[in-house]
Amino acid sequence: MKPIKVGLLGLGTVGTGVVRIVEGSQQDVLSQTGASLEIAKILVQDKSKARSIAVTSDKLTENAWDVIENPEIDIVVEVMGGIDLAKKYILESLERGKHIVTANKDLMALHGPEILAKASEKGCDVLYEASVAGGIPIIRALVEGLSSDRITKIMGIVNGTTNYIMTKMSQEGAAYDDVLKEAQDLGYAEADPTSDVEGFDAARKMTILGRLGFHANVDLSDVSVRGISQVTKEDIAYGKRLGYEVKLLGIAESQDDHISISVQPTMVKQSHPLASVNGVFNAVYVYGEAVGETMFYGPGAGELPTATSIVADLVAVVRNLKLGINGRRGFAPYKEKKLKSDEQ
Ligand code: NAP
Ligand code: HSE
Repeated sequence: MKPIKVGLLGLGTVGTGVVRIVEGSQQDVLSQTGASLEIAKILVQDKSKARSIAVTSDKLTENAWDVIENPEIDIVVEVMGGIDLAKKYILESLERGKHIVTANKDLMALHGPEILAKASEKGCDVLYEASVAGGIPIIRALVEGLSSDRITKIMGIVNGTTNYIMTKMSQEGAAYDDVLKEAQDLGYAEADPTSDVEGFDAARKMTILGRLGFHANVDLSDVSVRGISQVTKEDIAYGKRLGYEVKLLGIAESQDDHISISVQPTMVKQSHPLASVNGVFNAVYVYGEAVGETMFYGPGAGELPTATSIVADLVAVVRNLKLGINGRRGFAPYKEKKLKSDEQ
């Protein structure tokens, strides 16, 4: 079978991981899935920048249209981040019948419904597993694994940077600014880390999980948000003495069709499984009426874990291509939500 050609928008932390997985470390595994993939073109901002992987210079471009308008490219992977340009490039790619895989939670939280509507109009896939909780297949778990159940609660540590910072502050007494810098150097933090530390990144992820888990048209503005920038070493030490760990928790609940979603630093009892989720790891607790309690755990950010989710989405697009079922999400339209806060 001829390889399916993929265009990358971005070759930073995540894009580099995608190239490593597709072209190197997991090629044999990928061939067992029947997905033969070739990275044909890669958009970057600066072609002359030193890269940690070898990429032939003819593959790199500073012109997005070399990817979007390339008739050979079937799937566009958006890993450049940001909102306006990323949205434009994705919509233009969909217009040309290309399938999309993205890690961009900012974009999916804000404009996901519009992008998904365009995708179904065009018969294209838009998959975004990597947008929430890095290497944990939580979107697949909600959309496929738990599709038979009514989900009533989703509670999680969904930001790796802040969990990394608070773990180091708690276990090593490290200073906030030093650990934030480490998280940036490790490629965990957003281009503007305010998103991480003020809880906006987690709020965007909880918006996506709320939509998928509760089948409701949750809006980012429905989420109440407080980040960790005001949490001190002393707060963490005090919590510890009382038997708690401080974690940035996203909590989404649906009761009688009323939804509430918040993100805030929360005292978690040390006996609770979420209290021992440390470092860049994330965990998402999901409660379903029939299944009861489930929990999904794994690395929440970083090059290869995030790229694993992206490449799994690529495999899914190829599988759908073979079956001729791209763009068919098969869900009923989202319900209008009622917010608890509207009635208080
Ligand atoms: P990054 O390291 O900053 O890489 C961004 C890449 O996009 C770079 O290669 C950059 O080019 C390119 N780029 C940015 N703006 C561009 C523009 N206007 N035109 C052309 N190229 C442009 O970002 P990242 O950490 O890989 O994150 C990418 C996306 O994945 C973001 O949406 C992020 O939220 C999401 N995400 C990241 C992680 C993680 O652990 N890092 C995990 C999950 C999801 P140059 O290389 O030339 O600068
Ligand atoms: N900045 C994000 C985090 C990247 O730290 O969780 C993964 O989405």
